Parts: sequence; C-alpha cells; structure tokens
Amino acid sequence: MSAKRIQIFDTTLRDGEQVPGCKLDRDQKLRLAERIEELGADVIEAGFPISSPGDFKSVQEIGKLIKNATVCGLSRAVKEDIKVAAEALSTAKRPRIHTGIGTSDSHIYDKLLSTPDKVIEKAIGAVSYAKSFVEDVEFYAEDAGRTENAFLAKVIQGVVDAGATVLNIPDTTGYCLPGEFGEKIKYLTEHVVGIDKCTISVHCHNDLGLATANSIAGIQNGATQIECTMNGIGERAGNCSLEEVAMIIKHRLGDQFFTGINSKLLNPLSREVSMEMGMSVQANKAIVGDNAFAHSSGIHQDGVIKARDTYEIIDPKEVGLDRSLIILTARSGRAALAFRFKELGINLTKRELDVAYKIFLEVADSKKQVGDEDLKVIWKGINVAVA
Ligand code: KIV
Ligand code: ZN
Repeated sequence: MSAKRIQIFDTTLRDGEQVPGCKLDRDQKLRLAERIEELGADVIEAGFPISSPGDFKSVQEIGKLIKNATVCGLSRAVKEDIKVAAEALSTAKRPRIHTGIGTSDSHIYDKLLSTPDKVIEKAIGAVSYAKSFVEDVEFYAEDAGRTENAFLAKVIQGVVDAGATVLNIPDTTGYCLPGEFGEKIKYLTEHVVGIDKCTISVHCHNDLGLATANSIAGIQNGATQIECTMNGIGERAGNCSLEEVAMIIKHRLGDQFFTGINSKLLNPLSREVSMEMGMSVQANKAIVGDNAFAHSSGIHQDGVIKARDTYEIIDPKEVGLDRSLIILTARSGRAALAFRFKELGINLTKRELDVAYKIFLEVADSKKQVGDEDLKVIWKGINVAVA
C-alpha cells in the first residue's frame, strides 16, 4: 500500500490568533503567512473576515500574497458571514470558504437555542450558499467530538449532498479519547454516502492534552487533513501542534502517510510565531521547546555524548537546530564536564578533570546551571590547583 498524503491545514493565523494577547497586526500576519507557506502547509486559514475590518483586509492581502497554498476564511452558517468571506477571498488563487455550525446537544439547545432539524437545514443552506461563490467549501460540525455519531452522520450527509468538498470534524472542546475519536471518523466513512469523494479533516483542541493523539487517530481512521497551529497555540489549552503531527508522521508513520512539511523550518518558524505573538513556548514542549534536545542528568549526558540516539529519537538538525545541548547542572557527570570544556577548546587531562569536577560540583550546588563563564573561572582554578 502506498503512503497517503496528509494535508496540513494551518490555523495559526485564525484559531491561534484567538489566544488572548496574541493579536497580530496585518504586517505580522502577512510575514507569518509567507513563512507558513514556505514551511509547506497546504491550507492557510487566514482569518474570520466578518469579525473585523482588520481581519477582512488581512485575509484579502494574504490571498494576494500566497502563491500555492489554499487560503481559507472562516464564517458561521450565516449568509452575511459567507458573503463577506467570499469577498475577502476574491483575491486568492485558491480560495476556500470554511463554514459551519454547532452539532452537539449542548450547542444546539444551549448556544443556538435551536433544534436538530433546523441545524441540518442551516448547515445545508450555508454550504449551498458558499458554493455559489467558490468551488472549495469546507464544512465544520462544531463540537463534533461531543455529537452523537448517528446525528453527526446525518448532518454530514446533508452537506456532502450540498457539495461540501472538505468535512471538518472538530473536537472543539478537546473531549474525546483517541480510540473514541478514531471510531467517530471511521463511523462517518461507513455511514455517509459519497464521503469518499471528500476530504475528511480533523480539528482537535487540547483541553485534556489529547489534541495530537486524537488527530493521529483521525488519520489512522480515514481523515486526510489535519488542522493545527505552530506551537499548538489556540483557544484555551490550544490546538493540535503542527510540529508534533509533522514529526510523528515523518518518524513513526512514514510507511502509511507523508506531509509536505519541510521539517528543517519548524524551529525557526516556532521562534518567529512566538516572537510575533509575544507568547513564549514552554521549555519542555515537544520538538520546539528549549529543552526538547537538551540533556542535563549525568546518565543521559554520558549516553548522548557516546551516541546521540541513546536518548534522542530525532536529530535536532532535522528540525532546524544546530545540535543537542549538554546542560551542566549539579546532576551532571564528568563526561559532560569534559565535553563542555572540549567545546571551549580545552582538552582536560584526567588529573585536571578530577580537580575541575570537584570545583564544578561546588559551583553547581549554588546555581541552577553552570555556563561557559563559570567554566572559564573553573579552568583558572584548575591551573592554580595543578600548578
Ligand atoms: O474548534 C472549532 O470547532 C473551531 C471551528 C470554528 C472550526 O475552531
Ligand atoms: Zn478550533
């Protein structure tokens, strides 16, 4: 069986930008949109055009700028939203309208104050109307994660018949377990006639830390598009991380799937997004966190110095970093200390290393990390002690 292409739908500029304090101005959005295309994303969700004149203009400008990726604009299942999204996308070479409505009981009864039948009617109406502007229409069934499968299939059948090209099944509240979410996608593939002609997309939130696992379960059960953001930013606990799914597919599922992502650009783009949004990345974040390729305990350092893959499953160069880091702390051993001295151009003799290690432990006990400046002071101490 040949490997399937998984489309990467980047929503850093829409769902990601909804994070409090992460608002971007137009120039920032344009800069990032270009980088996201360069990274190899297939679809860029550029914004929610009806939400503000600024967002409208950004979507319009991104549409002009982007050469190959599909540019997508969000709308509710409301005629005016769809019309405005179509206007904003009129500059794009490959425009896509992303429209939808809540389908869970909670959304139907408590948010929309509606009924299941009316929701189906609105979903079909929205897709049909969007189709009058563009060929490529993606439908989202908001809170699909908490929507009963039989009803979800009924809604999806309606929008497939109305011409939707992409079917987004969001776990809006990050509620599902991976097995459950995978089952949901499989159920739809088995119960919606004509679904094989459409792209099934997954859009998972991270409220229980399962966004990435659920997205992977989605593609293992028939989805061929993943909606995600750089650094996993997004509403509340965020969205599925682009860098995580890209590397999982590359490293663990390469016999079944592939993406167009250039993994060497992941770390540079992560930093750029973090800097433009003013939102730091947690140090232990997979792939792009400061500690993702840093080793601080003696046992690990000894292993990595001998052979990198004893404690690393990815070569840092593959994700755009120069090298792994050996961090000196009070938990570090002699091998790490000798290694770091060597990096400074100093090859310690056994005797020098014994002296250095004693001084090092005293310094390390008084600070969180021992840096190059400390090592230079220790080097002076060794020369005094050994002289
Ligand atoms: O989380 C969600 O359901 C969304 C939709 C608007 C696609 O962001
Ligand atoms: Zn979302």
